[in-house]
Amino acid sequence: LISRGFATSTYLNSIKHVTVVGGGLMGSGIAQVAAQSGHNVTLVDLNEQVLQKSKGSIEKSLQRVAKKLYKDQEAEAKKFITESVSRISVSSDLKDVVKKTDLVVEAIVEKMEVKHKLFSEIDPVAPESTIFASNTSSLSITEIASVTKRKDRFAGLHFFNPVPVMKLVEVIRIPDTSDATYNQVMEWSKAIGKTPITCKDTPGFVVNRLLVPLLCEAVRMMERGDATAKDIDIAMKLGAGYPMGPLELADYVGHDTTLSIVEGWHKKFPDNPLFEPMKSMKELVQQGKLGVKSGEGYYKYTK
Ligand code: NAI
Repeated sequence: LISRGFATSTYLNSIKHVTVVGGGLMGSGIAQVAAQSGHNVTLVDLNEQVLQKSKGSIEKSLQRVAKKLYKDQEAEAKKFITESVSRISVSSDLKDVVKKTDLVVEAIVEKMEVKHKLFSEIDPVAPESTIFASNTSSLSITEIASVTKRKDRFAGLHFFNPVPVMKLVEVIRIPDTSDATYNQVMEWSKAIGKTPITCKDTPGFVVNRLLVPLLCEAVRMMERGDATAKDIDIAMKLGAGYPMGPLELADYVGHDTTLSIVEGWHKKFPDNPLFEPMKSMKELVQQGKLGVKSGEGYYKYTK
Protein backbone atom coordinates (compact mmCIF):
# COMPACT_ATOMS: atom_id res chain seq x y z
CA LEU A 1 0.00 0.00 0.00
CA ILE A 2 2.81 2.37 0.87
CA SER A 3 4.32 1.93 -2.58
CA ARG A 4 0.96 2.82 -4.10
CA GLY A 5 0.94 6.18 -2.42
CA PHE A 6 -1.58 5.39 0.29
CA ALA A 7 0.76 6.14 3.15
CA THR A 8 3.60 8.50 3.91
CA SER A 9 6.80 7.68 5.71
CA THR A 10 6.06 10.27 8.38
CA TYR A 11 2.72 8.69 9.28
CA LEU A 12 2.99 7.68 12.90
CA ASN A 13 0.20 5.18 12.59
CA SER A 14 -1.47 6.49 15.71
CA ILE A 15 -4.88 6.16 14.07
CA LYS A 16 -5.62 2.49 13.53
CA HIS A 17 -9.34 2.18 14.10
CA VAL A 18 -11.77 4.65 12.59
CA THR A 19 -15.48 5.00 13.31
CA VAL A 20 -17.46 6.54 10.48
CA VAL A 21 -20.93 7.66 11.55
CA GLY A 22 -23.53 7.91 8.78
CA GLY A 23 -23.54 5.25 6.07
CA GLY A 24 -24.90 7.48 3.31
CA LEU A 25 -23.19 8.94 0.27
CA MET A 26 -20.21 10.47 2.12
CA GLY A 27 -19.86 8.07 5.04
CA SER A 28 -19.60 4.99 2.83
CA GLY A 29 -16.93 6.71 0.72
CA ILE A 30 -14.92 7.74 3.79
CA ALA A 31 -15.18 4.21 5.22
CA GLN A 32 -13.96 2.80 1.91
CA VAL A 33 -10.87 4.99 1.56
CA ALA A 34 -9.91 4.37 5.18
CA ALA A 35 -10.25 0.58 4.76
CA GLN A 36 -8.41 0.41 1.44
CA SER A 37 -5.44 2.20 3.02
CA GLY A 38 -5.15 -0.35 5.82
CA HIS A 39 -7.31 1.04 8.64
CA ASN A 40 -9.90 -0.95 10.51
CA VAL A 41 -13.23 0.77 10.12
CA THR A 42 -16.63 0.49 11.73
CA LEU A 43 -19.41 2.14 9.76
CA VAL A 44 -22.35 3.16 11.93
CA ASP A 45 -25.87 4.14 10.88
CA LEU A 46 -29.25 4.17 12.61
CA ASN A 47 -30.69 2.29 9.70
CA GLU A 48 -29.75 -1.39 9.14
CA GLN A 49 -30.91 -1.26 5.52
CA VAL A 50 -28.62 1.68 4.80
CA LEU A 51 -25.70 -0.31 6.19
CA GLN A 52 -26.40 -3.28 3.95
CA LYS A 53 -26.73 -0.98 0.94
CA SER A 54 -23.49 0.79 1.84
CA LYS A 55 -21.63 -2.49 2.03
CA GLY A 56 -22.78 -3.32 -1.50
CA SER A 57 -21.86 0.07 -2.91
CA ILE A 58 -18.43 0.02 -1.21
CA GLU A 59 -17.68 -3.37 -2.73
CA LYS A 60 -18.65 -2.15 -6.21
CA SER A 61 -16.54 0.95 -5.80
CA LEU A 62 -13.57 -1.14 -4.58
CA GLN A 63 -13.85 -3.21 -7.75
CA ARG A 64 -13.45 -0.04 -9.82
CA VAL A 65 -10.44 1.05 -7.75
CA ALA A 66 -8.85 -2.42 -8.02
CA LYS A 67 -9.29 -2.40 -11.80
CA LYS A 68 -7.32 0.83 -12.03
CA LEU A 69 -4.62 -0.13 -9.52
CA TYR A 70 -4.02 -3.70 -10.66
CA LYS A 71 -4.97 -3.64 -14.36
CA ASP A 72 -4.17 -7.20 -15.47
CA GLN A 73 -3.21 -8.66 -12.10
CA GLU A 74 -6.42 -10.45 -11.27
CA ALA A 75 -5.19 -12.20 -8.12
CA GLU A 76 -3.77 -8.97 -6.68
CA ALA A 77 -7.00 -7.13 -7.43
CA LYS A 78 -9.05 -9.83 -5.71
CA LYS A 79 -6.77 -9.74 -2.67
CA PHE A 80 -7.07 -5.94 -2.46
CA ILE A 81 -10.87 -6.12 -2.53
CA THR A 82 -11.16 -9.00 -0.04
CA GLU A 83 -8.71 -7.45 2.40
CA SER A 84 -10.32 -4.00 2.20
CA VAL A 85 -13.82 -5.43 2.71
CA SER A 86 -12.60 -7.51 5.64
CA ARG A 87 -11.43 -4.35 7.44
CA ILE A 88 -14.95 -2.87 7.43
CA SER A 89 -17.56 -3.86 9.96
CA VAL A 90 -20.98 -2.28 10.39
CA SER A 91 -22.98 -1.48 13.50
CA SER A 92 -25.96 0.50 14.72
CA ASP A 93 -24.64 0.74 18.29
CA LEU A 94 -22.47 3.87 18.18
CA LYS A 95 -21.91 4.16 21.93
CA ASP A 96 -20.47 0.67 22.02
CA VAL A 97 -18.26 1.15 18.93
CA VAL A 98 -16.62 4.36 20.19
CA LYS A 99 -15.43 2.67 23.41
CA LYS A 100 -12.43 1.52 21.38
CA THR A 101 -11.63 3.81 18.49
CA ASP A 102 -8.92 6.33 17.57
CA LEU A 103 -10.91 8.63 15.30
CA VAL A 104 -14.62 9.33 14.84
CA VAL A 105 -15.62 10.91 11.52
CA GLU A 106 -19.22 12.10 11.59
CA ALA A 107 -21.11 12.21 8.27
CA ILE A 108 -24.78 12.26 9.32
CA VAL A 109 -27.60 14.66 8.41
CA GLU A 110 -26.71 18.34 8.14
CA LYS A 111 -28.60 19.46 11.26
CA MET A 112 -26.85 21.13 14.19
CA GLU A 113 -29.16 19.68 16.86
CA VAL A 114 -28.70 16.11 15.55
CA LYS A 115 -24.92 16.50 15.45
CA HIS A 116 -24.97 18.01 18.98
CA LYS A 117 -26.94 15.05 20.30
CA LEU A 118 -24.51 12.59 18.72
CA PHE A 119 -21.31 14.20 20.00
CA SER A 120 -22.64 14.86 23.49
CA GLU A 121 -23.62 11.19 23.75
CA ILE A 122 -20.28 9.76 22.67
CA ASP A 123 -17.99 12.30 24.40
CA PRO A 124 -18.22 10.67 27.86
CA VAL A 125 -17.88 7.13 26.42
CA ALA A 126 -14.96 7.46 23.98
CA PRO A 127 -11.36 7.11 25.27
CA GLU A 128 -9.51 10.33 26.22
CA SER A 129 -7.22 10.01 23.21
CA THR A 130 -9.97 9.65 20.61
CA ILE A 131 -10.18 12.46 18.06
CA PHE A 132 -13.60 13.66 16.88
CA ALA A 133 -14.15 15.13 13.41
CA SER A 134 -17.13 16.32 11.40
CA ASN A 135 -17.54 16.19 7.62
CA THR A 136 -20.10 19.02 7.66
CA SER A 137 -20.22 21.24 4.57
CA SER A 138 -22.03 24.23 5.96
CA LEU A 139 -22.16 24.15 9.76
CA SER A 140 -19.60 25.68 12.11
CA ILE A 141 -17.13 23.13 13.50
CA THR A 142 -16.64 25.33 16.58
CA GLU A 143 -20.36 25.21 17.26
CA ILE A 144 -20.57 21.45 16.71
CA ALA A 145 -17.60 20.89 19.06
CA SER A 146 -19.06 23.17 21.75
CA VAL A 147 -21.08 20.33 23.33
CA THR A 148 -17.96 18.24 24.01
CA LYS A 149 -15.20 18.43 26.60
CA ARG A 150 -12.59 17.59 23.97
CA LYS A 151 -12.45 20.73 21.87
CA ASP A 152 -8.66 20.32 21.69
CA ARG A 153 -9.25 16.93 20.05
CA PHE A 154 -11.83 18.20 17.57
CA ALA A 155 -11.41 19.20 13.91
CA GLY A 156 -13.27 19.36 10.63
CA LEU A 157 -12.47 16.79 7.94
CA HIS A 158 -14.31 17.92 4.85
CA PHE A 159 -14.32 15.39 2.02
CA PHE A 160 -15.63 15.77 -1.53
CA ASN A 161 -18.08 13.66 -3.49
CA PRO A 162 -17.29 11.04 -4.79
CA VAL A 163 -14.88 10.41 -1.91
CA PRO A 164 -12.88 7.56 -3.52
CA VAL A 165 -12.16 9.77 -6.55
CA MET A 166 -11.74 13.30 -5.20
CA LYS A 167 -8.21 13.85 -3.87
CA LEU A 168 -8.87 16.80 -1.59
CA VAL A 169 -9.70 16.94 2.09
CA GLU A 170 -10.11 20.26 3.88
CA VAL A 171 -8.79 20.06 7.44
CA ILE A 172 -10.56 22.63 9.58
CA ARG A 173 -8.74 23.87 12.66
CA ILE A 174 -10.89 25.48 15.32
CA PRO A 175 -9.18 27.80 17.82
CA ASP A 176 -9.06 24.98 20.39
CA THR A 177 -7.66 22.26 18.10
CA SER A 178 -4.30 21.21 19.56
CA ASP A 179 -1.16 20.89 17.45
CA ALA A 180 -1.07 17.17 18.20
CA THR A 181 -4.65 16.68 16.95
CA TYR A 182 -4.03 18.83 13.88
CA ASN A 183 -0.86 16.89 13.00
CA GLN A 184 -2.60 13.55 13.46
CA VAL A 185 -5.55 14.40 11.20
CA MET A 186 -3.21 15.88 8.58
CA GLU A 187 -1.09 12.71 8.60
CA TRP A 188 -4.15 10.48 8.55
CA SER A 189 -5.53 12.38 5.57
CA LYS A 190 -2.29 11.73 3.70
CA ALA A 191 -2.27 8.09 4.81
CA ILE A 192 -5.66 7.52 3.19
CA GLY A 193 -4.27 8.86 -0.09
CA LYS A 194 -5.73 12.38 0.06
CA THR A 195 -4.11 15.80 -0.19
CA PRO A 196 -5.09 17.86 2.86
CA ILE A 197 -5.25 21.64 2.97
CA THR A 198 -5.82 23.68 6.11
CA CYS A 199 -8.58 26.22 6.62
CA LYS A 200 -10.05 28.20 9.49
CA ASP A 201 -13.62 27.55 10.55
CA THR A 202 -15.19 29.99 8.08
CA PRO A 203 -18.45 29.52 6.10
CA GLY A 204 -17.90 27.24 3.09
CA PHE A 205 -14.23 26.69 4.03
CA VAL A 206 -12.15 27.13 0.84
CA VAL A 207 -13.81 25.21 -1.99
CA ASN A 208 -17.48 25.94 -1.36
CA ARG A 209 -16.85 29.57 -0.41
CA LEU A 210 -15.40 30.10 -3.89
CA LEU A 211 -17.43 27.60 -5.88
CA VAL A 212 -20.96 28.28 -4.61
CA PRO A 213 -20.85 32.03 -5.47
CA LEU A 214 -19.57 31.08 -8.94
CA LEU A 215 -22.52 28.73 -9.48
CA CYS A 216 -24.88 31.46 -8.23
CA GLU A 217 -23.36 34.09 -10.51
CA ALA A 218 -23.74 31.72 -13.49
CA VAL A 219 -27.41 31.20 -12.61
CA ARG A 220 -27.94 34.98 -12.26
CA MET A 221 -26.24 35.55 -15.64
CA MET A 222 -28.62 33.06 -17.25
CA GLU A 223 -31.63 34.61 -15.44
CA ARG A 224 -30.69 38.05 -16.81
CA GLY A 225 -30.61 36.53 -20.29
CA ASP A 226 -27.00 37.52 -20.91
CA ALA A 227 -26.24 34.02 -22.22
CA THR A 228 -27.88 30.61 -22.29
CA ALA A 229 -27.05 27.84 -19.78
CA LYS A 230 -25.35 25.88 -22.56
CA ASP A 231 -23.21 28.81 -23.70
CA ILE A 232 -22.18 29.71 -20.13
CA ASP A 233 -21.06 26.10 -19.62
CA ILE A 234 -19.18 25.94 -22.93
CA ALA A 235 -17.55 29.29 -22.13
CA MET A 236 -16.22 28.22 -18.73
CA LYS A 237 -15.03 24.85 -20.03
CA LEU A 238 -13.22 26.15 -23.09
CA GLY A 239 -12.30 29.60 -21.82
CA ALA A 240 -11.38 28.89 -18.22
CA GLY A 241 -10.40 25.22 -18.45
CA TYR A 242 -13.11 24.01 -16.06
CA PRO A 243 -13.88 20.28 -16.38
CA MET A 244 -17.62 20.99 -15.96
CA GLY A 245 -19.62 24.13 -16.66
CA PRO A 246 -21.12 25.92 -13.62
CA LEU A 247 -24.72 25.05 -14.51
CA GLU A 248 -23.84 21.43 -15.21
CA LEU A 249 -22.07 21.38 -11.85
CA ALA A 250 -25.07 22.96 -10.09
CA ASP A 251 -27.26 20.19 -11.57
CA TYR A 252 -24.76 17.59 -10.35
CA VAL A 253 -24.51 18.99 -6.81
CA GLY A 254 -28.32 19.22 -6.48
CA HIS A 255 -30.32 22.45 -6.22
CA ASP A 256 -31.74 21.58 -2.79
CA THR A 257 -28.18 21.37 -1.45
CA THR A 258 -26.92 24.57 -3.10
CA LEU A 259 -30.05 26.52 -2.17
CA SER A 260 -29.89 25.50 1.47
CA ILE A 261 -26.22 26.60 1.64
CA VAL A 262 -27.00 29.96 -0.02
CA GLU A 263 -30.05 30.55 2.17
CA GLY A 264 -27.98 29.81 5.29
CA TRP A 265 -25.28 32.28 4.24
CA HIS A 266 -27.89 34.88 3.23
CA LYS A 267 -29.38 34.71 6.74
CA LYS A 268 -25.93 35.23 8.28
CA PHE A 269 -24.74 37.87 5.80
CA PRO A 270 -27.89 39.58 4.40
CA ASP A 271 -25.88 42.42 2.82
CA ASN A 272 -23.69 40.24 0.61
CA PRO A 273 -25.31 40.18 -2.88
CA LEU A 274 -23.38 36.98 -3.75
CA PHE A 275 -25.49 35.10 -1.19
CA GLU A 276 -28.88 36.28 -2.45
CA PRO A 277 -30.97 33.13 -3.26
CA MET A 278 -31.75 32.84 -6.97
CA LYS A 279 -35.33 32.90 -8.29
CA SER A 280 -34.93 30.12 -10.89
CA MET A 281 -33.23 27.80 -8.39
CA LYS A 282 -35.99 28.30 -5.83
CA GLU A 283 -38.55 27.46 -8.51
CA LEU A 284 -36.68 24.31 -9.57
CA VAL A 285 -36.55 23.10 -5.95
CA GLN A 286 -40.28 23.80 -5.47
CA GLN A 287 -40.99 21.70 -8.57
CA GLY A 288 -38.76 18.85 -7.33
CA LYS A 289 -36.33 19.45 -10.20
CA LEU A 290 -33.20 18.96 -8.14
CA GLY A 291 -30.74 18.24 -10.95
CA VAL A 292 -29.14 14.99 -12.11
CA LYS A 293 -30.53 12.98 -9.15
CA SER A 294 -34.16 13.79 -10.02
CA GLY A 295 -33.70 13.68 -13.80
CA GLU A 296 -34.08 17.41 -14.41
CA GLY A 297 -32.56 20.71 -13.32
CA TYR A 298 -31.26 23.36 -15.69
CA TYR A 299 -30.85 20.41 -18.12
CA LYS A 300 -32.87 17.25 -18.67
CA TYR A 301 -31.33 13.84 -18.02
CA THR A 302 -32.39 10.42 -19.23
CA LYS A 303 -31.20 7.36 -17.31
P1 NAI B 1 -26.79 11.09 3.37
O1 NAI B 1 -28.19 11.52 3.59
O2 NAI B 1 -26.43 10.36 2.13
O3 NAI B 1 -26.33 10.18 4.61
C1 NAI B 1 -26.58 10.49 5.94
C2 NAI B 1 -26.74 9.19 6.73
O4 NAI B 1 -26.71 9.47 8.11
C3 NAI B 1 -28.06 8.46 6.46
O5 NAI B 1 -27.77 7.15 6.03
C4 NAI B 1 -28.77 8.44 7.83
O6 NAI B 1 -29.48 7.24 8.08
C5 NAI B 1 -27.58 8.59 8.78
N1 NAI B 1 -27.91 9.17 10.08
C6 NAI B 1 -28.68 10.24 10.34
N2 NAI B 1 -28.69 10.52 11.66
C7 NAI B 1 -27.86 9.61 12.24
C8 NAI B 1 -27.44 9.36 13.57
N3 NAI B 1 -27.85 10.11 14.59
N4 NAI B 1 -26.58 8.33 13.80
C9 NAI B 1 -26.15 7.56 12.79
N5 NAI B 1 -26.52 7.74 11.49
C10 NAI B 1 -27.36 8.75 11.23
O7 NAI B 1 -25.90 12.42 3.55
P2 NAI B 1 -24.47 12.78 2.91
O8 NAI B 1 -24.66 13.47 1.61
O9 NAI B 1 -23.59 11.60 2.99
O10 NAI B 1 -23.96 13.93 3.93
C11 NAI B 1 -23.53 13.63 5.23
C12 NAI B 1 -22.71 14.78 5.77
O11 NAI B 1 -21.60 15.04 4.90
C13 NAI B 1 -23.45 16.12 5.94
O12 NAI B 1 -22.96 16.76 7.09
C14 NAI B 1 -23.03 16.89 4.69
O13 NAI B 1 -23.03 18.30 4.89
C15 NAI B 1 -21.61 16.42 4.51
N6 NAI B 1 -21.08 16.51 3.14
C16 NAI B 1 -21.84 16.16 2.07
C17 NAI B 1 -21.32 16.25 0.78
C18 NAI B 1 -22.12 15.82 -0.41
O14 NAI B 1 -21.68 16.09 -1.55
N7 NAI B 1 -23.27 15.16 -0.24
C19 NAI B 1 -19.94 16.75 0.53
C20 NAI B 1 -19.20 17.02 1.74
C21 NAI B 1 -19.77 16.94 2.99
